[in-house]
Amino acid sequence: MTEEIITVGLAERSYPIRIGSQNLAQLGFWCREAALGKQAALVTNPTIAALYLPQVRDSLVAAGFSVTVIEIPDGEQFKSAATLMTVYDRLIDAGLDRGAFIVALGGGVVGDIAGYAAATYLRGIPFVQVPTTLLAQVDSSVGGKTGINHPKGKNLIGAFYQPRLVVVDTSTLDTLPAREYACGLAEAVKYGIVLDADLFAFMEANAAGVLAKDKTCLQRVISTSCRTKASVVEKDEREGGVRAVLNYGHTLGHAVEALTGYRQFLHGEAVAIGMAQAARLSEARGLATTLDTERILQLLQDLNLPTQLPEFSRTAYAQALSHDKKKRDEGVNFVFNKGIGNFSINLVTDLKGLLQQCGVGE
Ligand SMILES: NC(=O)c1ccc[n+]([C@@H]2O[C@H](COP(=O)([O-])OP(=O)(O)OC[C@H]3O[C@@H](n4cnc5c(N)ncnc54)[C@H](O)[C@@H]3O)[C@@H](O)[C@H]2O)c1
Ligand SMILES: [Zn+2]
Repeated sequence: MTEEIITVGLAERSYPIRIGSQNLAQLGFWCREAALGKQAALVTNPTIAALYLPQVRDSLVAAGFSVTVIEIPDGEQFKSAATLMTVYDRLIDAGLDRGAFIVALGGGVVGDIAGYAAATYLRGIPFVQVPTTLLAQVDSSVGGKTGINHPKGKNLIGAFYQPRLVVVDTSTLDTLPAREYACGLAEAVKYGIVLDADLFAFMEANAAGVLAKDKTCLQRVISTSCRTKASVVEKDEREGGVRAVLNYGHTLGHAVEALTGYRQFLHGEAVAIGMAQAARLSEARGLATTLDTERILQLLQDLNLPTQLPEFSRTAYAQALSHDKKKRDEGVNFVFNKGIGNFSINLVTDLKGLLQQCGVGE
């Protein structure tokens, strides 16, 4: 299987994303090629360590790096200030100086917290992303958003801090549970709907292969998703404008997550529900056809993703929507799809009207 390299072009902060099916073994070599310092701090969790730590550590050691392993507990609830502090403690105890670098081996939780530790430890040391969930491979490891949650809200503390290198090994997905896998597919479908009609059509035509984690399909979906996200980030690194397109499906998705107490749905599932509604709303505004909407709903269903809004009142949804941190005082910036492969971002002030169009009762 060929390995692909996609560059995120951000002038002096540019970096490669290397995508292939046997990449973990090359990690050490590529870190050396990137001229990283001699000491590596490898942040991971026990679930991932049991599967991939030996291979990753061996690769780094064979390339001449010393490796300090820092395990954090597994779970979104540990993306916290308390966990971050234990990471700092370990970095200090290991005597890591500004010549050291951090390797994040895991999903979005490990990547976000390890990236934020790298952004802030000694005012910033380099870091490398080795994403092991599909969501992290197509989304969170690319683009430089790092951070932790606050008891008052998700991702409220953080920094834009780009990695030096992203190494994606598609074979790590073999062990990823099906629901987690589908969540990553939801983010890839998102890129297709609003930015890349060819990616959408590819997933539509190859849904069975994609679901079966066929390596050729995976390579295509991941590399196209990364290329698409990279091009958005290159235009708008700090989300002052067009990067907001990546919130497609997320406005309602976040409301669904909040209303269900973050228990009933995983993030990608809530986003799938949000995208199904966004598709209907786009059609209602004349931005897309009935056929576009049918194709979107069908693909989500083919990928085992939910599309039905859970039942809550219009008032409850309106409240959840206006708690969304992306909300501006005058309303919510909502991302619509224009057909498939294009988008339009519009300010929506009549939230209850929007919810009525989604079929949400009083
Ligand atoms: N920085 C960004 O731009 C960005 C974008 C999207 C999401 N996020 C963040 O990402 C987080 C979600 O990330 P996630 O969906 O990867 O969840 P996660 O990191 O919690 O991983 C999901 C589960 O899969 C396990 N796992 C990881 N890799 C595995 C593998 N190869 N085999 C078996 N199990 C494996 C993990 O231990 C965990 O239990 C959220 O905190 C979210 O806020 C960040
Ligand atoms: Zn998302």
